[in-house]
Amino acid sequence: MPVPWEALIPFGLLTAMFGVAGTLLNASAHVQNQGKGPRYNTDAWDEMMMDRDKRLTGHKRGQRSDPVAPEGFSTSSQWYTEKTR
Ligand SMILES: *[C@@H]1O[C@H](CO)[C@@H](O)[C@H](O)[C@H]1NC(C)=O
Repeated sequence: MPVPWEALIPFGLLTAMFGVAGTLLNASAHVQNQGKGPRYNTDAWDEMMMDRDKRLTGHKRGQRSDPVAPEGFSTSSQWYTEKTR
């Protein structure tokens, strides 16, 4: 069976470039999430919890075990209102 050797170079290039792009996308997503995997399928509750985490730690993926809230936490929240159409 004849093997199309000349097709292996573009095939290798395509494979390598998809791998590079995927790895960079993965790295970007992890850097934006402080080394954790990205969150998928988040609902309004999750968004509120991420807002709270941001107010507590300064980053939406931040976590802390200190039971005392930081200065200004009690006044930094906002009311969510319905979106106008
Ligand atoms: C993405 O990066 C994470 C952490 O570095 C790793 O565990 C995971 O296997 C990677 N996923 C892919 C598809 O490379």
